[in-house]
Amino acid sequence: MKPDYSKFTVQDVTKMEDITGGPAKALLVQSELLPTPPKGAIVLDNACGAGILTSLLFEAVGQTSDVRVVCGDIEEYMVNSAAERIKANGWSAEAVVVDAQAIQFPEGHFTHALINFGIQVIPDNALAVQELFRVLKPGGTLGMTAGTTPHWLASLQAVVPDFATPPIFTTGPMASKESITGLLAGAGFARINVQLVTFHYKDTMPAHIRYMKQMFPQVLVGEAAEKYEAHMRAKHGEGDFTLPWGAYVITAGKPTL
Ligand SMILES: C[S@@+](CC[C@H](N)C(=O)[O-])C[C@H]1O[C@@H](n2cnc3c(N)ncnc32)[C@H](O)[C@@H]1O
Repeated sequence: MKPDYSKFTVQDVTKMEDITGGPAKALLVQSELLPTPPKGAIVLDNACGAGILTSLLFEAVGQTSDVRVVCGDIEEYMVNSAAERIKANGWSAEAVVVDAQAIQFPEGHFTHALINFGIQVIPDNALAVQELFRVLKPGGTLGMTAGTTPHWLASLQAVVPDFATPPIFTTGPMASKESITGLLAGAGFARINVQLVTFHYKDTMPAHIRYMKQMFPQVLVGEAAEKYEAHMRAKHGEGDFTLPWGAYVITAGKPTL
């Protein structure tokens, strides 16, 4: 379940952030960057996409904080989008290409290392978590969100009965509180806090159908796509609708020496 982020458009990013922005504020609060970042905070917004997490942070704290942010993403399009946003707003941040599985920053560089709605699309979750541990200062804070089984799955399975739930929601390392806790503890983290939250986002039928076809290009084609669209229109009507989704909001600390 991974779209081709290299082919994203402005419209795709807006749609993505309608969803990913939902649990992002909860992540900033649980990571203790909001309401007030600690003095001297240096934050890695990893797998940043177009930078919604950084945007929510600076929109909340404005110029009142000395927080600095590095936005990193493996896709150049995303890095450029985040860089434009940073420049347009004059934030104390930079955007660079970063592979979450081989972060180019030295050990102990960041006070906070965050991934909003990105860990599940990084192939090796354990390696990404180890890398976050490495680049954090002792006493630093890890923060991640991970989506749970999405709201639309039941609708999709109603029209495509043999559609199997993507393993990232059922068996992957981010699928349960227990496996998340095990993964973080294995990497050396302490003070592990995994909260299950529900958030809601607004959708429109054309945007939803476009998003679903992009997520499941092999499944939502031809008759199946038509059936799914008809099913969703019957369920939610033609106008805007609101969809719930669950996410784990995860924080942990790198032990002090
Ligand atoms: C679902 S998007 C979330 C983006 C953003 N964090 C947000 O909240 O909107 C996942 C992002 O992970 C990035 N990504 C995937 N694999 C990556 C990797 N190995 N290293 C860094 N970023 C990666 C993608 O390019 C994409 O921008």
